Amino acid sequence: MSFLVNETRLQADIETLATFVNPELPGYTRRPFTPEYTRSRRWLQEQMEAAGLNTKYDAAANLIGVRDGKNSKLQPIMIGSHTDSVVGGGRFDGIIGVLGAIEIARQLEEQGIELEHPLHIVDFTAEEASEFGISTIGSRGMVGALHESYLERKNDDGLTLADGLTRQGGNPDQLNEMALTKGDIALYLELHIEQGPVLAEKGYELGAVTGIVGIERYRITVTGQPNHAGTTPMNMRQDALTAASESILAIESIANESYEVPVVGTVGRIFSEPNAANIVPGEVRLEIGLRSIRKSALQSMVQKMNDFVQGVLKKRDVDVTIEKISESEPVAVSPEILNNIYDACMKVGKTKKLPSGAGHDANQLASIAPVGMIFVPSKDGKSHCPEEWTDYELVAKGVAALGNALLSFDRQLLK
Ligand code: HGY
Ligand code: MN
Ligand code: MN
Repeated sequence: MSFLVNETRLQADIETLATFVNPELPGYTRRPFTPEYTRSRRWLQEQMEAAGLNTKYDAAANLIGVRDGKNSKLQPIMIGSHTDSVVGGGRFDGIIGVLGAIEIARQLEEQGIELEHPLHIVDFTAEEASEFGISTIGSRGMVGALHESYLERKNDDGLTLADGLTRQGGNPDQLNEMALTKGDIALYLELHIEQGPVLAEKGYELGAVTGIVGIERYRITVTGQPNHAGTTPMNMRQDALTAASESILAIESIANESYEVPVVGTVGRIFSEPNAANIVPGEVRLEIGLRSIRKSALQSMVQKMNDFVQGVLKKRDVDVTIEKISESEPVAVSPEILNNIYDACMKVGKTKKLPSGAGHDANQLASIAPVGMIFVPSKDGKSHCPEEWTDYELVAKGVAALGNALLSFDRQLLK
């Protein structure tokens, strides 16, 4: 017998949350620290309270719904994800993890199920890569990994991260004092869309996640010399954009080399100044994301990137700096958690064990607690785009598997 889920109610929640978006931007855009994000969280808080949860905001503006357990001395089991989106994002990334957890809280209430452990349901603030140069902001804050230097960073509107967190109900001055440490939660679970093609292509309904990639983000700044685009001979140019272009292609070929485990490398953002048709580009900034399930593969890619850039510097008479702007550690899910989750999923549907090529709030929670994740398939493997889709029946299966896992861990963790 599997955990009961009201699929119709779950679908209605997903469709309602998809209305809190910025109509000027493509897809279903709900960036953090915006009016639409604030309105959506007010609605989320109402849903949490209607599900019998006591709600609060922590210092990192994470929205937390609490359900007491039979034994208040036990550490809570935490289930969470995020409801902010990328620009032009979809309706499921992160969202199903939060709404699925609320549906589980409703079922516990409606069926009169009392867990042994307290249950904390969390909507983490700003999980996606932000204009502050970091992602998983709320979960970093929860585990004391939101460094002082991050809080002073400003976005394009001049908003500091500290003010952004305050705007969303947080209290940055209390981050250190309120940070959770090892032992403060018994287990963290997250339901998420796969955001890749594996489950859909092979006809699986659920995924039991074996591990999550670590992500290292860098900014490469190429400084040349702005000059007249008509009168400056080709052999006298210090063109920052052509030098940056060589570096972009080099990062692609470095990521295409073979390593002991799969890696990816992406140049996702580029700024070229003065960005005029009749001026030789003077300065270019690139933002790069390198990912792998193993730290050593990341380090090898970084070394190759550094070596290449030194070469460009000499050949093109430009100055190049590389700075690390953020990083998250790769996570390996423990065998006992993985097998427990796999069994919980198999009660619901055809399940495959697989790694996550996307980063998640679970990367941060793993620094203080055991973590586990469940995936549902992404149609055509698409995500971070308006076409992101998962059939509601599969979302409901994911929530049922998460509910099974919660009930099983609630007993297992007592031993
Ligand atoms: O970028 C990621 O891996 C995730 O979707 N935030
Ligand atoms: Mn996500
Ligand atoms: Mn995402």
